[in-house]
Amino acid sequence: MKHNLISTIFALACTLGVSAQVGNVTVSQYGSEPLKIGSVEEWEQVHRPVIMNFFEQEVYGLMPDGQVGITYEVLNECPNALGGKAIRKEVAMHIAGLDTPVLILMYLPANAKGPVPAFLGMNFKGNHQINPDPAITPSPNAPVYKGDPERGAASSRWPVEFIVESGYAVVTLNRDNVDPDFDDGFQNSVHPLFYAEGQTAPKANEWGTIGAWAWSLSRVMDYLVSDKAIDSNKVAVVGHSRLGKTALWAGATDKRFAIAISNDSGCGGAALSIRKVGESVDVINRSFPHWFCDNYNKYRNNESALFVDQQGLIALIAPRPVYVASATLDQWADPEGEYLSALYASPVYELYGLQGLTTPMPAPEQPMNSGHVGYHLRTGRHDITLYDWQQYVDFANRHFGVK
Ligand code: GCU
Repeated sequence: MKHNLISTIFALACTLGVSAQVGNVTVSQYGSEPLKIGSVEEWEQVHRPVIMNFFEQEVYGLMPDGQVGITYEVLNECPNALGGKAIRKEVAMHIAGLDTPVLILMYLPANAKGPVPAFLGMNFKGNHQINPDPAITPSPNAPVYKGDPERGAASSRWPVEFIVESGYAVVTLNRDNVDPDFDDGFQNSVHPLFYAEGQTAPKANEWGTIGAWAWSLSRVMDYLVSDKAIDSNKVAVVGHSRLGKTALWAGATDKRFAIAISNDSGCGGAALSIRKVGESVDVINRSFPHWFCDNYNKYRNNESALFVDQQGLIALIAPRPVYVASATLDQWADPEGEYLSALYASPVYELYGLQGLTTPMPAPEQPMNSGHVGYHLRTGRHDITLYDWQQYVDFANRHFGVK
């Protein structure tokens, strides 16, 4: 009986904007406030599905229901990479219908006694840029920027030695190898693989590029669960900036990710949209029309119509740990808005008896990492640095029980 009631109310509430009463809870517009929910049961059965539905229909777009054939091929494995510190492994993900495989690069700690926890994240400009290691196969489709040295150019963003010495694997793939980061009307890459007969572009509520990137992270996770060197119960999904938006969406849609980490993800990521500090919903959709679903355009200069702000996205990850980081000079990403989202999602963690954030935004270099919602503000510009990674390793150590 109770179940029927909840299903009926849920069906009602799924019609966005409709208010419904469940017990003493009103499911309506959640806005940009702290999420106040009565119980874990209400959260899981009513609010979480409604909020998930909103982000799927109106922000990132639905990922496809359909299946596509994917096979994984270990291309090579080198037991003494990085001067003997790591095992380097490359895996090709062959997606039926695509000519070019997606290359997954892995570094695993050498001499591990068993399966290791991992950080999985996409890179901006190619696997070969994360480390000067000359044996890395360059990612196909990676953009070449004028004057941009290739190998190792992004190594400050990927402190691979530090991560493997901390006992974690690094797993990465290139965004453009999955779905090129420009507006081509979704004519190439993964979107067309799922078009219905006669369809030529995603519908207004179907996935954009961030959705495709997040989907690909789940497809890498499909591989990781089969790799005996990886402890697939301890995979943290991480990303910087647009790839931080992606990491949050991947963490929300795939519960296999044990931790989600957003580094400077800003608008459409951790930052509250209603504030319009730095990048706005209008500007991001104008500059990057391919990132979100078409329905998101409804909220340009109309943020107050958002059913729930980005604190809802963070809450979708609960009760799994989530970490949000900002940088002082990164006003485009609105550090305070990023902090507030994490704060406003915290009541959902508290329902589970877990520690969220409760105090005002901390000063730079004062990480708040003792609970299930972590946050730090780093001095400096929009970037992901060794300092950021040190906090993520520390946070993961606590939750994964790594010494
Ligand atoms: C631009 C964009 C941001 C994005 C960032 C990045 O600045 O406006 O939304 O996060 O690029 O990905 O580096």
